[in-house]
Amino acid sequence: TKIAVFASGSGSNFQAIQEAIEHGELNAKVALVVTDKPGAFVVTRAESFDIPVLALSPKEFASKVDYETAIIEALRECGVEWVVLAGYMRLIGEVLLAAYPQRIVNIHPSLLPSFPGKDAIGQAMDHGVKVTGVTVHFVDEGMDTGPIIAQAAVPVVVGDRVATETAIHKEEHSLYTTALQQLFK
Ligand code: GRF
Repeated sequence: TKIAVFASGSGSNFQAIQEAIEHGELNAKVALVVTDKPGAFVVTRAESFDIPVLALSPKEFASKVDYETAIIEALRECGVEWVVLAGYMRLIGEVLLAAYPQRIVNIHPSLLPSFPGKDAIGQAMDHGVKVTGVTVHFVDEGMDTGPIIAQAAVPVVVGDRVATETAIHKEEHSLYTTALQQLFK
């Protein structure tokens, strides 16, 4: 299965997916990494795996439709079948949703529908929940709202944000690859 990974930041989920592919745990190929942040660390990670990167700043485009149309052109050139969002900090618009119906997935660091949007881990800790987690879901027009594919619970380390984040990211890296493997079967 040929996939594109979309990321705006560090790209640790991208790296976990790529390593799972290389270890034979995930039957896929990352044909393209797409970022809206040309300086993001995910670009360095992609280059270290020799994976092509499409780095486009949305502000260079007149509209979201134009921006997504340019992305779709690149996805089609690379034969991309599934779009995998991994820390892509932008809502997917109708053009991209229509180009990949039921073929765009996202990972979010909470047990949705709790704590959608930015800083889900901070939201959960501020709320005082004792168990949070990770959700893999299909993407629709909303913010972290599409049908849920997989979830895993992660205990909050009370008073220790860094430790909680570390535990959540570790769970993300394994849940995403197993969920994708199920989807691609
Ligand atoms: C992850 O926590 C993911 O769930 C969220 O953004 C973060 C991305 O981390 N949507 P990374 O760039 O994969 O390291």
